[in-house]
Amino acid sequence: MDIRNLLVTGGCGFIGSNFIRHLLAKADFHGRIINADQLTYAGNPENLRGVEEAYPGRYLFRKADICDADLVREIFSHYEIDAVCHFAAESHVDRSILKPDCFIRTNILGTFNLLEAAKGRGSAFQLFHHVSTDEVFGSLGPVGAFTEETPYRPNSPYSASKASSDHLVRAYHETYGLPTTLSNCSNNYGPYQFPEKLIPLVVLNALEGKPLPVYGDGKNVRDWLYVEDHCEAIWTVMGKGRRGETYNVGGRAEMENIAIVEMICDLVDEFAPSSGAGPRRRLITFVKDRPGHDRRYAIDFGKLNGELGWTPAESFASGLRKTVQWYLDNKGWSERICSGEYQSWIKEQYGS
Ligand code: NAD
Ligand code: TYD
Repeated sequence: MDIRNLLVTGGCGFIGSNFIRHLLAKADFHGRIINADQLTYAGNPENLRGVEEAYPGRYLFRKADICDADLVREIFSHYEIDAVCHFAAESHVDRSILKPDCFIRTNILGTFNLLEAAKGRGSAFQLFHHVSTDEVFGSLGPVGAFTEETPYRPNSPYSASKASSDHLVRAYHETYGLPTTLSNCSNNYGPYQFPEKLIPLVVLNALEGKPLPVYGDGKNVRDWLYVEDHCEAIWTVMGKGRRGETYNVGGRAEMENIAIVEMICDLVDEFAPSSGAGPRRRLITFVKDRPGHDRRYAIDFGKLNGELGWTPAESFASGLRKTVQWYLDNKGWSERICSGEYQSWIKEQYGS
């Protein structure tokens, strides 16, 4: 596969921006990246600061809503798109419970528009990679792990909309022969994650001495993967994965939420000792549970490991350490998000 013009959707978000940096630094990618992002509250151009200058002619940005079918078609033909890596989505479960509408729109209709445009490129089109989540499989009991054969049982509007988009991708492969690959990944963490998600939220609240909200009894389990490992898994699947197949991606790092929050407290105490107020664990506050809160996720990534040789490089302890350090070293990044400064900049820069 020799991709010339790769469309990355949602490239200003958490994983998309890490992926763009990761890919441009790789010796086995020689093409150009076109990043199409609507810049919702979660899209931050600052995540890609310096990339255009570091890789002249190899990166460009288009502000675009993937729900606008005409605009999507125009982008595909104008930039002669021959491959897609599709990240753009509404991604936060709690928001999907309060206001599901835009999840249905972006995650389902937006994916449909991209698939249609990709189909329209005919034989010039090489690959549509869809980035999805393990949440489509629903919740596990105390044992077992999701495989690629696990039936879909989504429980939140977020996971239901992602499940729908996965089914559309499958259908475009089966019906129209569109070359597709799909990855279902567990919870990511690392640099540039929007501070509404558990890990950055707890790091920043701990630093500021604010309460650390733990839903329910804190014993819900997620399998955590360092974002750089996810980026490498996606590139591995794009390069070597069988077309029409799905691959599960995980970190072999099952953790109860409460254990993560305690680890973060201890790391923040170590890196930024608080003057006399006592250990950050004192800030842990159990709050009302999330409705429909999935109890446990765990991923069996044996297929990806066995067929394509991928395995995570980072352990949870090493990845979390790096992550906490990153948020401490980049306080300006989160301060600008929390103050709404970058939202005003986007308004000024793009007029909407
Ligand atoms: P994010 O919320 O940080 O970023 C989403 C990006 O999509 C933002 O830049 C946003 O501006 C953009 N976007 C939203 N609606 C758009 C639209 N209509 N048109 C164009 N752009 C739009 O999300 P993330 O955590 O980086 O997740 C990226 C993808 O990975 C999502 O598809 C998500 O379902 C999937 N995923 C995430 C995780 C995780 O733990 N974060 C795990 C597995 C899979
Ligand atoms: P989150 O980061 O929102 O990811 P997801 O819901 O996609 O798994 O949440 C991770 C886990 O942490 C989840 O079980 C919900 C829990 N959680 C809290 O306990 N407190 C919080 O403030 C948040 C945001 C999440």
